[in-house]
Amino acid sequence: MSSFRVSGLSGKPLLEGDVYIDGAKNAALPLMAASVLMPGEVVLNNVPDIADVGAMRDLIEGLGGFTSYKDSVCSIRAEKATGAVLLGDVAKRLRASVLLLGSVLARNGSVVFPHPGGCVLGSRPIDLFLDGFSRLGCTITEQEETTTITAKEGLSGGVIFFKVVSVTATETFMIAATQAAHPVVLKNCAMEPEIVALGEFLQAAGARLEGVGTPTITIYPSVFELPRVEATIIPDRIETGSFLILGALLGRDMRIHSTEPAHNEALLAALEEMGVRVRIDGTSLHIKKPETLRAISVRTHEYPGFPTDLQAPLALLMTQATGESSILETVFDGRLNYLNDIQTMGAEVHVWNPHKATIKGPTPLKAKNIDGPDIRAGLAFLLAAAVADGTSIVGNAHLIDRGYASIEKKMGNLGLSIERI
Ligand code: UD1
Repeated sequence: MSSFRVSGLSGKPLLEGDVYIDGAKNAALPLMAASVLMPGEVVLNNVPDIADVGAMRDLIEGLGGFTSYKDSVCSIRAEKATGAVLLGDVAKRLRASVLLLGSVLARNGSVVFPHPGGCVLGSRPIDLFLDGFSRLGCTITEQEETTTITAKEGLSGGVIFFKVVSVTATETFMIAATQAAHPVVLKNCAMEPEIVALGEFLQAAGARLEGVGTPTITIYPSVFELPRVEATIIPDRIETGSFLILGALLGRDMRIHSTEPAHNEALLAALEEMGVRVRIDGTSLHIKKPETLRAISVRTHEYPGFPTDLQAPLALLMTQATGESSILETVFDGRLNYLNDIQTMGAEVHVWNPHKATIKGPTPLKAKNIDGPDIRAGLAFLLAAAVADGTSIVGNAHLIDRGYASIEKKMGNLGLSIERI
């Protein structure tokens, strides 16, 4: 298992140069899952070279499909992807494997899958998926290790109201509903840019959807018959946000390119409130560390609110801000645990309950050997190591690799001393 060795800059703003943002993990995965319904070749450009994309390719190949990946272009041919069983070991570690439920079920009439894994963010139930498929006329059978969903008569139409807003549930039912016998209306949908990107992909392939990007989406029965569909994955707003936070922490003059600033409005507003000036220049962002950072309160929320995936990186910035900052995590209930490790590096953190924490700053951080618990907290640990005094080892590099391509190269190009060991 690899780790990162990072020599901290003791808070000195020494990072400068350019970083180019990759395509979004959370946009690539649903488009790949939807490709299983396409009769011809699907060509996806700007696909990030990350472990989760590799896992999704394994799952599609496990169904009988063919995939290839070179220079950020992923090609998928699903003519022979007629399997109904999601590979257990892969699906168990990839929460986004749930995205395949809709396409496999619509194609085969049944799907068998283990309880999906992924980041440890408290309990991550799948009740929305099971309820939704029941509403579309499916039968659910839960075995000890696996669940089987069967649609003997195909998928019916109907209305699904999501009792909580869920990104992958919205996407899964957008995909599945294209193959239903009658229109499907999804209510209380997520509105993330990745959902809009999926809607555009399905439309380009021949589907009819209305309301994508709003809380109510209507999907009409659709036929996919194009011999080839091509799409370009949108820039990763979480990678962009992670580098913006690195720039606010340690940037002398950092430039972040190939991004979509409009997708990061919540973070840009938070940074402005903290006293960080970001210059927007088309698809580029220029940032440097301000003289002083102000404390703020942030509440995570579904898009367009502040993304839960940037909560841990922002907490790191809060340790360097003057005054008491607070975080209210409303999306997941196990997403503040990483703060205990940040505390052992010298941060003044108080976790009040599984959803609320306060951070007093500024505090210098001491180097330490720490293992990241998930992708985003792992990235936050790299930020902590970068700002600290001394050399830290950040373990569980494979978790960071799930969502960030060549992170050590990108951070190294900015002047950070970081190596994979
Ligand atoms: C997606 C993102 C992830 C991000 C998260 C929230 C992908 C591949 N992953 O994950 O990076 O952190 O959105 O922005 O796009 N829930 C239920 N029942 C369900 C499903 C979800 O109660 O059946 C709850 C979850 O426990 C959580 C909330 O819904 O509290 C939102 O989670 P959800 O949007 O589903 O996260 P993911 O789609 O898994």
